Amino acid sequence: MYQRENWASRVGFILAAAGSAIGLGNIWRFPYMVGENGGAAFLFIYLIAIILIGYPTIVNEMIIGRKTHLNPVGAFKSIAPGAPWWLVGAMGVFSGFLILSYYSVVGGWSLAYIYKTVIGVLNVGASEFDTLFANHITNPIEPIIWHGIFMALTTSIVAAGIVKGIQRSVQVLMPLLFIILVLLMARAVTLQGAGEGLAFLLKPDFSEITSSTFLDAISQAFFTLSLGMGCMITYGSYIRDKDEIPGSAASVIGLDTLVAVMAGFAIFPAVFALGFTPNAGPGLTFITLPAVFSKIPLGIFFGFLFFALLTVAALTSAFSLLEVVVAWLIDEYKWSRTKATITLGILIFLAGIPSSLGYSTLSSFSFLGMDVLDTYDWLTNSILLPFGGLLTAIFTGYIWGTKNAIKEGNKNNPKILLGSWWSFLIRYVIPAVIFIIMLAGIWDTFK
Ligand code: PFF
Repeated sequence: MYQRENWASRVGFILAAAGSAIGLGNIWRFPYMVGENGGAAFLFIYLIAIILIGYPTIVNEMIIGRKTHLNPVGAFKSIAPGAPWWLVGAMGVFSGFLILSYYSVVGGWSLAYIYKTVIGVLNVGASEFDTLFANHITNPIEPIIWHGIFMALTTSIVAAGIVKGIQRSVQVLMPLLFIILVLLMARAVTLQGAGEGLAFLLKPDFSEITSSTFLDAISQAFFTLSLGMGCMITYGSYIRDKDEIPGSAASVIGLDTLVAVMAGFAIFPAVFALGFTPNAGPGLTFITLPAVFSKIPLGIFFGFLFFALLTVAALTSAFSLLEVVVAWLIDEYKWSRTKATITLGILIFLAGIPSSLGYSTLSSFSFLGMDVLDTYDWLTNSILLPFGGLLTAIFTGYIWGTKNAIKEGNKNNPKILLGSWWSFLIRYVIPAVIFIIMLAGIWDTFK
């Protein structure tokens, strides 16, 4: 009989959940969002979104998981038997599958860039990084191989189990990530001319704020905290009954925000110091940054560190995305962990291929002007995650009942006591805000 595992320690859980939260969203997405939305002004709105929406939601998901000790589908079924609420869990499992398929393609780019740095391919003039990146992603074969390697790494760790696979690796990878980030930050802020980048991050320019700033801040909050798709339900389902939740959730949010801000401090001072523009969009990571590194002493070394950082962050998030789908097959269909991970590893690898080919063979594909990868990203981030978050809040607020949730959440003397303030946010604030944001977001895309 399969024995469902638990995290072996509270810190192990916090690191795994922080590993899930800290990912491409912090290092690749957050900086260009800040860059495009007026620096510190965006940071300010983002922090409010994290506190008012992110925190109550992450607590809610962890509580549902720990209460039921089940995957998202099983969790909704067990709290509301006979009702269709399990479909919210199913939507989460589907999102996990879809997100990982393209997330791994970007993870593969990052792995490839480590390799290219080491073999010296990135040793070119600052103006050539545009072409270099375009050549990489428009190659029909090479990025798929790297995507395969990234998926193979993810699969092998998740196959080893919650404690021996995921917990053991995050206990090494998360401290490593932190050390690399400190080194990169120290380098960036001591460059001559770094002050302008620091000012950009610290001085809010509220004139840059538009309605889309709010949309960006909230969807970023969901994505970066791995919310709205049952990921924290799944990780929460392995929390021991003797551990507290609200304080752990606060640590996860704190670490995630710290890393996002530190990534900003590692990137903008360098970008400004070397005369580049901060609002380079998604290309900031793969084009502007390598160009920045090419201009500083020991740039190859720092470039290597940067892509190692990005890869580690992506990997620990990929573990959690895969675990959501794996836990579903294990709990609901009694598959063995090995069979579930290997089967899904292969299927997700195959599902990711179109995202990669969207820049070569399938480059004629366009959905509202988006390529394949952006379409998957849009479907999950702008539709499925906020919708999942909305329904999960309604579920706890009106079906399960916040009283029951609070009872589970306040077990074991937590440092932060959940009370009517939490109930208010879950029942009224979160559903209303997400609803408005989703409508506005969809309006924005189709208008
Ligand atoms: N939080 C991850 C990031 O910031 O890159 C992305 C992510 C992981 C989203 C896991 C959703 C998820 F379930």
